[in-house]
Amino acid sequence: MRVDALALAELRERTSEKWREYPDDVLPLFVAETDFPLAPTVTAALEKAVRSGDTGYVASRTPLASAYAGFAGRRFGWTPDPARMRSTADVSMGIVEIQRRVIRPGERVVVNPPVYPPFFDLVTEAGGVVERVPLRDTGEGWELDLDGIATALAAGARAILLCNPHNPTGTVHSAGSLAALARLAEDHGAAVISDEIHAPLAQPDAAFTPFLASGGAAGRIGYAVVSASKAFNLAGLKCALMVAASDETHAVLRGLPVEVEWRTGQFGLLAAVAAFSPESDAWLDGLLVTLDENRRLLQALLAQHLPEAHYRMPDAGYLGWVDLSGLGWGSNPAKQILRQARVALHYGPAFGAEGAGHVRVNFGTSPEILTEAVERIAAAREKISAPASILPGAE
Ligand SMILES: Cc1ncc(COP(=O)(O)O)c(C=O)c1O
Repeated sequence: MRVDALALAELRERTSEKWREYPDDVLPLFVAETDFPLAPTVTAALEKAVRSGDTGYVASRTPLASAYAGFAGRRFGWTPDPARMRSTADVSMGIVEIQRRVIRPGERVVVNPPVYPPFFDLVTEAGGVVERVPLRDTGEGWELDLDGIATALAAGARAILLCNPHNPTGTVHSAGSLAALARLAEDHGAAVISDEIHAPLAQPDAAFTPFLASGGAAGRIGYAVVSASKAFNLAGLKCALMVAASDETHAVLRGLPVEVEWRTGQFGLLAAVAAFSPESDAWLDGLLVTLDENRRLLQALLAQHLPEAHYRMPDAGYLGWVDLSGLGWGSNPAKQILRQARVALHYGPAFGAEGAGHVRVNFGTSPEILTEAVERIAAAREKISAPASILPGAE
């Protein structure tokens, strides 16, 4: 099954953040929404719910946990126990609520910048203090700095907020590094919260390992927070799952207030059950093929039009992390790109100091839009390079 993005005119009918933040002359490649149609299985589930007015609260017994267990079994070769999962409104809420149970106010939580910008706020929202241990650039990719994390744990950090696969670099962490992280955390009495929202979009050649499947220690000290929302573009419907793999960690999830679960969206739950069902697998495989083509297209476009840019293809997802420092466009090139090329990219420095000179490009779109975006940036390069002081409207 081929999965192609909608045309620009159809996309402009959408009213979500991606399509309403900027005026119509801007190509939006910033926020993590995709431009694909819904999977037919998801459309059918939502249409059925609308027809019957099935819009009440989520039931206390639902097929969601079993649907995810089936999905993880088919896609990752890992079958978590549905009895050890609880739903909530979104991945962010799951991350905050779990932290509230595993750290005390003022304790430190490790994050690995450059990283999904809200991670910093999700730690403080839970009363924690952010401890930055940047990813290590190996020259060929990125990896967890296990020595740096060990130092942070020895100095008292109580949890690690892992991004697996990692946003923005698209890194699928190796099974070995996850197992080593789990052992380190266990040795120091710390918890690992693994955000696996991009996992369904790991490319088949990337050998994605769910954190909780990386060995015994991971099951004892880890939590995963998962969702169908990135792969199936369901972020507005509000549904995620918190997953535990031991009696102890399950007891922590069980201890969360019942309201955490009540906030799950009914449409989100119905859509997620459909998305995780075997009937959606062919659609997801088709989407992965399209995203594989797009991650390669972005590489070819940059090589052709902006050869100074440095980009490594991600192992997962639809986000490209591009280093534009070679172009001398300053620490936050996305600002000038927006102004001069009318292309909206995510600001690199928002991901941490390591993001200076970088932009994040959302390639979950059509080849036409992606091509036009890079061509617009290349065509505006003289204006983008000009010192900010001589540009009209420059801040
Ligand atoms: C790594 C990561 N975690 C969490 C989120 C947000 O998820 P949610 O809307 O379910 O809170 C995103 C959104 O892009 C993300 O990339």
